[in-house]
Parts: sequence; C-alpha cells; structure tokens
Amino acid sequence: MVSSMGGFCFTTLLLLIITASAPAAITSEEEFKVGGAAGWRQPAAIEPDMYRRWAQSMKFHVGDSLRFVYKNDSVMVVDKYGFYHCNSTNPISVFKDGNTLINLERPGPVYFVSGDPDHCKNGQRLMVEVITLHPQSPPQPTAASPAPSPFSGTESFSVAPPPQLVLFYILVVATSISIHI
Ligand SMILES: *[C@@H]1O[C@H](CO)[C@@H](O)[C@H](O)[C@H]1NC(C)=O
Ligand SMILES: *[C@@H]1O[C@H](CO)[C@@H](O)[C@H](O)[C@H]1NC(C)=O
Repeated sequence: MVSSMGGFCFTTLLLLIITASAPAAITSEEEFKVGGAAGWRQPAAIEPDMYRRWAQSMKFHVGDSLRFVYKNDSVMVVDKYGFYHCNSTNPISVFKDGNTLINLERPGPVYFVSGDPDHCKNGQRLMVEVITLHPQSPPQPTAASPAPSPFSGTESFSVAPPPQLVLFYILVVATSISIHI
C-alpha cells in the first residue's frame, strides 16, 4: 500500500518536471542554415524565389540565428531599399568569410543580399521577419525601437502554443491521478 503510493507520487513528480521543462525546450534559441542543404548561392534559373520560399517555411524569433554557408560570394545586411533594388552600395554589414552567423536580436524585418548585384537580381537575397517570442518580457536596453513594423504585430498573435501545452500536461497529470485512484 505504502509502496504503491510512493510509486504514484514519483510518477506525478516526473510528469510535473516534464511539464515545467517542456515550455523551456520550445523557447530555446534556434540556428537556421539559410537555404537548407543548398546554402547561400545564386539560385538556379528555375527557382529564383528559393530564399523567399525557404523563409516562408520557417518562423524566426528574437534570439535565433542564421548561418550563411557560401563560396566565392558574400552576405550583406542591407536596408529595404537595398534589398528591393539589389543595391549594396551602402550596406549595414558585409561578410565574406564563407561561414557567417547572424544573430537575430530584435523584432522586425531583416534584409540580406549577395554582394554581387547579378547574384542578387537572380534571386540570391533574403528577407526574414523576426518575431518576439515573449511579448511580456522586459524591453531590451536598446529600446530605440520606433513603431513596430506592420508585419510583426499580426504575426506575434499567432505565437501562443505554450499555455495550451501546459494545459495538456495538466490534463495528463489529472488523468493519471484518476487512473491510479
Ligand atoms: C572560386 O574562385 C576560384 C578562383 O577565383 C575558383 O578557382 C573556384 O573554382 C571558385 N569556386 C567556386 C565554388 O565557384
Ligand atoms: C545605389 O544607391 C545609392 C544611394 O544609396 C545610389 O547613389 C546609387 O546610384 C545606387 N546604385 C544603383 C546601381 O542603383
């Protein structure tokens, strides 16, 4: 009797530990390899929008990072104008090391182009929309954020799975209690 009670408590404790750690696992920072296996290169003529499609299949959060892997090319962080016109005359940053890690530090759009304008015009450019995972978390010290971009507002509302997940685990715990009783 006593030992079966002990087993039950242990199971409950284990489930509670899983409950507590699960949301943390979801919020962990992710590193994305830009373009997947293809990496950062001039797209083939049949897939000029490969980076747009790649970005649309992902969700980028503050704290995540992008890894660009490339050869004989470059990555430039540019503004919106530079992105749409493939103009890298005034880049924000330039990288040529072949293996570049970019940290996504704030919400909003970030624009990347190849430093070769022809590559850019052929589709080697990337725009990612970075969203905040914890809208209620304390603001960054660099609070020089003007009005948030129109995109991030609508996007951030769809980021709400953790509460439901917690509820789900609570239900699992409740079910296991009723089974044991
Ligand atoms: C990179 O450039 C060098 C010399 O400019 C060339 O020999 C090499 O084949 C190029 N590599 C790729 C992957 O294009
Ligand atoms: C690129 O933009 C700069 C201004 O930032 C402009 O002076 C230059 O003419 C532009 N180049 C091209 C090729 O459009």
